[in-house]
Amino acid sequence: MTALTQTQPWQALVRHRDALVGKHLRELFAQDPARFDRFSLQLGDLLFDYSKQRVTAETMSLLVQLAEARNLSDGLKRMAAGERINSTEQRAALHMALRADSGYTVDGADVSRGVRETRDRVCDTAERIRNGQVLGAKGKPIRHVINLGIGGSDLGPRMASRALYRYAHPGLRVDYVANVDPAELGAVLARANADETLFVLSSKTLTTIETLTNARSARAWLATHLGSQAAVGSHFFAVSNNLKGAAEFGIPAERCFELPEWVGGRYSMWSAIGLPLACAIGANGFRALLAGAHQMDEHFLKAPFGQNMPVIMGLLGIWNTDFLGAESLAVLPYSHALGELPLYLQQLEMESNGKRVTREGAPVGCNTSPIVWGSSGTVGQHAFHQLFYQGTRVTPVDFVVPVGGSDPAQQTLVSNALAQSAALMLGKTEDEAYADLKSRGIDEAQARRLAPHMVCPGNQPSTTVMLPDLTPHALGQLIALYEHKVFAQGWIWGINSFDQYGVELGKQMARAVGGSEPGGAAADVSTAGLMRAVAALRARPS
Ligand code: F6P
Repeated sequence: MTALTQTQPWQALVRHRDALVGKHLRELFAQDPARFDRFSLQLGDLLFDYSKQRVTAETMSLLVQLAEARNLSDGLKRMAAGERINSTEQRAALHMALRADSGYTVDGADVSRGVRETRDRVCDTAERIRNGQVLGAKGKPIRHVINLGIGGSDLGPRMASRALYRYAHPGLRVDYVANVDPAELGAVLARANADETLFVLSSKTLTTIETLTNARSARAWLATHLGSQAAVGSHFFAVSNNLKGAAEFGIPAERCFELPEWVGGRYSMWSAIGLPLACAIGANGFRALLAGAHQMDEHFLKAPFGQNMPVIMGLLGIWNTDFLGAESLAVLPYSHALGELPLYLQQLEMESNGKRVTREGAPVGCNTSPIVWGSSGTVGQHAFHQLFYQGTRVTPVDFVVPVGGSDPAQQTLVSNALAQSAALMLGKTEDEAYADLKSRGIDEAQARRLAPHMVCPGNQPSTTVMLPDLTPHALGQLIALYEHKVFAQGWIWGINSFDQYGVELGKQMARAVGGSEPGGAAADVSTAGLMRAVAALRARPS
């Protein structure tokens, strides 16, 4: 296969980018009053406005030609057909099956029936917990669910539970513990009553040191408060692909939910990994979340690329990263409840596409995943927006805007989102800054002196994804939109978006340094010096 950057569509995009140099978004909007209609898409109630991206109709045509030249259609079909497109681990990537009722197979075997059975079990269990029908060892109803997991076994359900807080059961508390730092589990247990507490041990492999450490601490806590290890059997559920490991931990098979090997961790919130989320929002909420994602799946698989929301979003990311030189992507949810979306997307995007070799093992030859970051608006406006306005970088932004109600505070929130994307696009010229200063009564000399310091070049690209409200269905659409965007980008870059060998090096080094008992073999003199310092501090009398 021709190296990506040597393909004709890629070279045409290079020439096109060079021809666009100096063209400001102000001009593009001035030349085309229909620009918003031309560069926005609607799927149900989801509005995707990419008119503030630095593109023209020709840009989009060339980007779509790139997707076609990279056989993205073939990639979609192969993923949906359950082929082992995760070529290094020889697995399918069939998270779409988790939100469908039928039609998915792996190696010719139907997987949809198993998906439905597990989903029904998850929903039934969640409803029984919410209704107080699941009892602890002492016969008290469970009123507190604590998920023990990290990465894909934590970030999705945690993000969605917070986002959908309005669907929470008033009598059931759901918490998430991920970090091995004992402070996180300690803070949650300080508010827990063992008689009424259920732990969900969520780990696809059941080999993740953070999760196993927290699970052992939780088990010890239960034994202390309930008087025996036997409590594990009625105060733990497990969600894993390693049911043998769950049994060895003391969780009986009937309290285990299996995670299929064709579900990647960062794509797993739709599976039994979503059990704590289903406890938080209820069976109806969980099923609505799945339905929203399924609607986006259908759109992704059927819409022509020029009208395909995830494909367009993926192509815009490639344009910003590989042609405009953007190093990062800021995702700014204008919603406090959606505040953990950037954290969730960091794993989805950077663990999927933070790769440097192709599926064939050759260097990709261009930049791949940007650094994904962000936080809730409007808070970021008082923290990092200055760099967007007057820094030296191209800083693409995804504004995610649930419109919500019409109370004044919500109106202010939404108005700020729209204002920021406009201001970043328009900027402010020196003449406008000078006139602004004069209009505020600043004298001529002062105005001339200050004006250059108030210039904002503008032309900063952004997309606005607008939801009517933060409902389970809308959130399902939104998350699936990003999942498929990531897939489209990875396929076009020619990388495997579904393995994560890089993180293994960090785990291996942690074992070498000594894990819970530092004192192993240092790989370098810096680490050796740091280890000595740790030992010295530990040796001090407390
Ligand atoms: O970060 C590496 C990783 O393997 C992720 O891909 C995964 O979501 C996380 O660790 C947790 O893995 P597990 O669910 O097997 O505990």
